[in-house]
Amino acid sequence: MLLGDRVSTRAGWQDYEILSTDLVPVGKIPDEMTSVDAMGKFGLNSLTGYFGMLEVGQPKENDVVVVSGAAGATGSVAAQIARIKGCRVIGIAGGDQKCRWLTEECQLDAAVNYKNATVEEELRQLCPDGINVYYDNVGGDILQAAIENMAVKGRIVLCGQISSYNDDKPPEGPRNMMRLIYGSITMQGFLTRNYTDNFPSAISNLKTWHEQGKVLFKEDVREGFENLPLIYRALFDGSNDGVLLVQINSD
Ligand SMILES: NC(=O)c1ccc[n+]([C@@H]2O[C@H](COP(=O)([O-])OP(=O)(O)OC[C@H]3O[C@@H](n4cnc5c(N)ncnc54)[C@H](OP(=O)(O)O)[C@@H]3O)[C@@H](O)[C@H]2O)c1
Repeated sequence: MLLGDRVSTRAGWQDYEILSTDLVPVGKIPDEMTSVDAMGKFGLNSLTGYFGMLEVGQPKENDVVVVSGAAGATGSVAAQIARIKGCRVIGIAGGDQKCRWLTEECQLDAAVNYKNATVEEELRQLCPDGINVYYDNVGGDILQAAIENMAVKGRIVLCGQISSYNDDKPPEGPRNMMRLIYGSITMQGFLTRNYTDNFPSAISNLKTWHEQGKVLFKEDVREGFENLPLIYRALFDGSNDGVLLVQINSD
């Protein structure tokens, strides 16, 4: 890497930072890639959806796949990759507009607006033979609703638990673990940084799918370093529309 190179990494909200590349991945952003694409379409959230779905979820053709947080940065990529793999895909999101985007533009098979539906019942109707892969971004009641609807040998991908990040105490665990025992169901967490060696091939696949119109991305770019704390809240009230980025200068 050379002085002046743009890099993608995990750092604080500050002007300068010395990073140990042994501890955090620091990747040079290719010169031809815009900063927004590097953080958005081909950034950490997209890669999370990619590895979480493909490596942990391992979707097979005709599987029934359910994704929560499906209209968000990570979930929308996970859901569309499952669709590319020939699965029947159902997204769960907060709001009719987000659900319409999922079915009409991302071509998912169905979407559930968790804000005005009983998710467990909706999933029972939509997945009469059970869910083969459940990709969870939110935890809490929605995870519980999926557990109640898993198919035998189903796989639950634990990506995030955003419904409890602001709680004062650790969330209550999911109930009814006997369903996992009797259903031979696996539940596995993961971190995207476990897959850094495979980032280049994942970015290349995402680029190809994007160019072929098979994966849509949404970027919600806002402005101002001083606005970071307020903007960050959008992730928790759902007012972000895609991957939430903050531009701090005009480069
Ligand atoms: N494992 C990893 O390595 C890894 C890496 C990156 C991110 N993640 C996780 O991936 C998840 C998604 O993150 P993201 O950055 O891509 O954000 P995002 O999905 O673009 O935005 C967050 C979304 O979460 C939903 N949400 C917020 N509170 C909720 C609640 N109480 N119940 C249900 N949904 C709620 C909102 O969508 P609605 O409008 O649909 O409610 C909001 O738009 C997070 O849990 C994050 O921690 C994991």
